[in-house]
Formats: sequence, C-alpha cells, structure tokens
Amino acid sequence: MTSPSFDLDAVRAEIPLLRTHVPLNNCSQAPQSRATRAAADAYLSSWNDTGMDWDAWLTETDAARSEFAALIGAEAEDVAVATSVSQATASVASGLDYSGDRHRVVASGAEFPTVGHVWLAQERFGAEVHWVPARDGRVRLEDYEAVIDERTLIVSACRGYYQSGFKQDVAAIADIAHARGALLYVDAYQTMGSETFDAVASGADFVASGNLKFLMGIPGIAFLWVRPGLADRLQPAITGWFGRDDPFAFDPTRLDWAEGARRLDLGTPPIFAAFVARAGMQWLNRIGLDAIGAWTSHLGQRCVEGALERGLTVLGPTAPELKAPTTAIVCEGSHALESALREQRILVSARGPVIRLAPHFYNTVADVDRALDELASQMRITG
Ligand SMILES: Cc1ncc(COP(=O)(O)O)c(C=O)c1O
Repeated sequence: MTSPSFDLDAVRAEIPLLRTHVPLNNCSQAPQSRATRAAADAYLSSWNDTGMDWDAWLTETDAARSEFAALIGAEAEDVAVATSVSQATASVASGLDYSGDRHRVVASGAEFPTVGHVWLAQERFGAEVHWVPARDGRVRLEDYEAVIDERTLIVSACRGYYQSGFKQDVAAIADIAHARGALLYVDAYQTMGSETFDAVASGADFVASGNLKFLMGIPGIAFLWVRPGLADRLQPAITGWFGRDDPFAFDPTRLDWAEGARRLDLGTPPIFAAFVARAGMQWLNRIGLDAIGAWTSHLGQRCVEGALERGLTVLGPTAPELKAPTTAIVCEGSHALESALREQRILVSARGPVIRLAPHFYNTVADVDRALDELASQMRITG
C-alpha cells in the first residue's frame, strides 16, 4: 500500500497545523481541522448573535449523538451523551446492583486509570474488583478465562491499551463474559475513529469513547453506547434532569426515566463541545472508517518496522490485527524526549516508560519516518 483510498492531499489541506508540525499524538489530542474550527465559530457566533438558541443547540447535541451512532453502526437512541469517559463509566457503575452473589467487577490491567478508579469506588457499595493482568503490553484471553466466574457482574475491558496500543479482541472477551452471565463494558477511546467498529456485532454491552483523540475533537464531551434493551434495566444513581422522560417537566419530586440510553444523559449537555464533536465525526463518517482503518494500520506497521530497523524496542504485540495505530517505543526519560521532539515540531506522546507515535488518516509515511529519525537520534544523544 503506498497511498490511502481517499485524497490525502485534500485531507491534509483541511488541517492548518500540518503547515508547521508533524502531529503524531492522536492517542492524546488530534489537531484542529477547518471543519472543527468552523463548528466552534458557529457556536460562538450563535451565542453572540442570538444571546441564546437552546433549541438549535440541543439539536446540535443530538446531531453529535447521531454522528457517533453512525460511526459504530448503531442507533442514536442507544447513545448517551456524557462529558468524559470517567463520567460515562461512573454513570454505568452507579446503575448496577452489587448487593447479591453476583457482585464482582473484573477489570483488565490495561484500563486507563480513571476506569479502574470508578470500579474501585464501587467497593463501598459491595463490589469486589478483580484484575486481569496486563503483561508485556498486552492482556491474554486465558487470563480473562481464569478470573471471570459466576459471581462476575461486569467485565471492564478497553479495546485499545493506552500505553502500548494493544487491541483486545472484544468479541472473544464478550463470549467469555456472557457465557458466565456477566456484562461487558468497553472503553474504546484509544481506537474510536481509527478503525471500523460495529458496536452491536462486537458483543459489548456498553461502549464508551471521549472525543479528543482519533475522533478529531475536543475535551468536554464523550459518548456511551448501550446495547438495545439494556438501558431500561438501569437506574443510575449518577443522574440528572436530561436523563428524565421530559427534562422540561421541571418536577423535582418525580424520577421518571427516559427510554433507552438517554436515561444515562446527565445535566446540561456539553453543547460547545458537541458542535466541534459533530464536525469531527462527520468528517470521519464521510471518508469512511474502512478507508481510514486501512491507512492507519499501514502507518502503524510502518512505525513498528521503522522502529525495529532503527534498533528501537517496541512495547507489546506488533502484528497489525493486534494493534491500534499507536506504537509505543521503550525509552528513558520519555517526557524530556517528548519535549525535545516538540522543539523540532514533531508531536508525540510520552506515557511512563514509552514514547507513543499515533498516526491518523491525515499522516504520511514521511511523517512517521521523520519522527522515528528524530527520536532515534535524540535517544542516541540522551542515552
Ligand atoms: C483509554 C482511555 N480511557 C479514558 C481516558 C480518560 O477519559 P476522560 O478524561 O474522558 O475521563 C483516556 C485518556 O487519555 C484514555 O486513553
């Protein structure tokens, strides 16, 4: 593969930062595009010109919800709008009952800390958290088999491991969880927007993602898909007026639940972020996740091969089917290296003992090679 199936030059022209920088930190914050900038401007203009336009603003929030649903092949009514993955996870966790025999939460050691923290906070309500270890940048299916049992209420397994880019087999984990009567919660933040992901077919019961990584958006908004029919069994203690059947009934004495995933909506929606989120996701939907996934996988492989050619050590599995676009290179002083590369206008992301290179659909092979050359040379200087 030498080029993607979409017009890469046209895509690149939409991202002003590319004139001056090589952004390879999409596992952390993707760059601004003309579309997301225009969407942010549209909200600011609407606010400035009309003072208040709540009907249109709420419509925009629903449009973002629909755009996320389209990305994962789902219906908008099965998507809740949250403000962060932490909040989405906490809302789900607060809707579960830990008082019976089935009170265990099984979480992978690859979860982003915030997700682990939410589950641990449920121990006060009777939950017992058990861990499936992450070893060598990956988590093994047999370790899920060993820990999930008939006392397991829910399994929490990210799709992409933030540290190494390792991609878990969600369908296989769902099979193990469901065979023992447990639910499956998937934090897909590290892969969402970089690959085709069919929520229903994945077998997951919940799928969450924030917006500022491969979804090309900003902080302040996240989305939570709930398997059709499941939301109506949840009464989350973390709730708010937008989770009501009619938020505008203004009756503080009545806790009526909205149908479907909307019952997991919370307070005033993250409207400003929704404007931006919609625009970013709309762009991805237009280009198509199949095409994006093919190119990001190619660039991810280039990261692996280029790193190994330069004598660098890659954390975790290197086979394309086991990897998000993110490649983690083991190094000393990752934060100093991130800063050194930033001075060369190459944006990468340090996490503990690794530097992560996370190309997206707008990146080129030359971007990857340039970053690897600079990284290898900096590592020789500082090592
Ligand atoms: C996989 C994953 N989940 C969750 C988070 C944090 O989510 P939030 O800050 O929206 O709670 C991150 C942030 O980097 C992440 O990589």
